Order: sequence, then structure tokens, then C-alpha cells
Amino acid sequence: MKKIRIAIQKSGRLNVDSLQILKDCGISIDNGKDQLKASSRNFPLEVFYLRNGDIPQYLRDGVVDIAIIGENVLIEKGNDISIAEKLGFSKCKVSLAVPKSVKYNSVQDFEGKRIATSYPNTVKNYLDGKGVKADLHIINGSVEIAPNIGLADAICDIVSSGSTLFKNNLKEVEVMLHSEAVLAVSPQISPERTSLLEELKFRIQSVLKARQ
Ligand code: PRP
Ligand code: MG
Repeated sequence: MKKIRIAIQKSGRLNVDSLQILKDCGISIDNGKDQLKASSRNFPLEVFYLRNGDIPQYLRDGVVDIAIIGENVLIEKGNDISIAEKLGFSKCKVSLAVPKSVKYNSVQDFEGKRIATSYPNTVKNYLDGKGVKADLHIINGSVEIAPNIGLADAICDIVSSGSTLFKNNLKEVEVMLHSEAVLAVSPQISPERTSLLEELKFRIQSVLKARQ
């Protein structure tokens, strides 16, 4: 029998909660440490541990059938990929922030400013919608340090507890979107694996109901 192939974040905030929801669905995964691929003993499922930012492309290419991923990553890199289920965990915002000392009036203040971010498409869409043109600097991590080292006037990144902003003397001034973990589906999923997806969705819905 064919197995459904699911991508999960390799390490980071989503990893633990993603494995937990599968476990709560009664799906046990044999996890060898440092293994990038694992199988379930009691459900026809294979897990691929991947980098967040790579997952939309794997879905598009049909290398994996489904994925647990932050909606924010799909909005940035995969708005052509459909969502089967919102999962209710890893809630966060994607926001614009400026140094605490800056007096902020409105989104127009970003006109001509340098913004450091890992979410260039999201920022560009947001600012385009407001008629604002800024200068985007793409960084892959530790974005919040950029204003302190003179690399940017502002940043756009994920805000969860707000602690990273606080520690870097930044304040959130615009919330661009709210995000949570979702179950995303490859446009190339086969009919056989679609029925496995239906079974998995049924279990996930029961788990989410019980968590309420
Ligand atoms: C993420 C994100 C923010 C921070 C938000 O960074 O990029 O910086 O978490 O969380 P908080 O509001 O609870 O502080 P992460 O720690 O994953 O590191 P990275 O940006 O270097 O990848
Ligand atoms: Mg960060």
C-alpha cells in the first residue's frame, strides 16, 4: 500500500507540536535522531523533516503530499498551495517594528525606509496596498538585530511572545497578518493518497475538538 508523505519542520518551534498532533491522532513515528525521514508503525505515513522555507516548493513539486507548516510561510512562498485544516497551534503575527525611540505616526512613515525581513513578499504586498515604497533587505534570521547595527530603520518578522522585540528595543507598529500552523496539501496529491489524507483529517478534527 502507498504511504502518504508528510513534511514537518526539521527543528524549531513547529517541530514538537507537529509530532504531538500526529501522536494524538494515534500515529506513532519511529524517530531515529538525525534521521531526515521516518515511518509510522501503525499508519501508512512517511515523515520528511525539512526546512520550513523549502516546504512550499516540495509540495508544489509533489515530492511530499502534505505538510504541517506555518500559514505565514505559505503566504510568503506558497499562496498557490491549499490548506486542508487549520491546526490551532503555533499562533503568531507577522509584524512591522521600529526602534522604541522612534515616534511612529502611520504606515506612511515607512516610505523610503530600509526594512530588514525574511518575508519580502508579505511586506511588499502589504506596503503596495498602502501605496508605500520601502527598501527591503532580505535576511534569513536574527532579523531584529538589524536596526541596532545600522543595517535597517525597521524590521518585519514573526512576533509570538514579543520577547525578541522587547530585548532588541523595538516596538510593534503594524500587524500585517495573523498565522497558525496548518495542514497544507500538494496540488499533485494522487487519489489513493487523498483517501489517506481524508482519514488523517478525520483524526485531526477529533483531536482538535477534544482540545477545545
Ligand atoms: C523567531 C522569529 C522572531 C521570534 C519571535 O526567531 O524570527 O525573531 O522567533 O518570537 P518571540 O516573539 O516569542 O520572541 P527564532 O528564535 O526562531 O530565530 P531566527 O529568527 O534566528 O530563525
Ligand atoms: Mg528571529
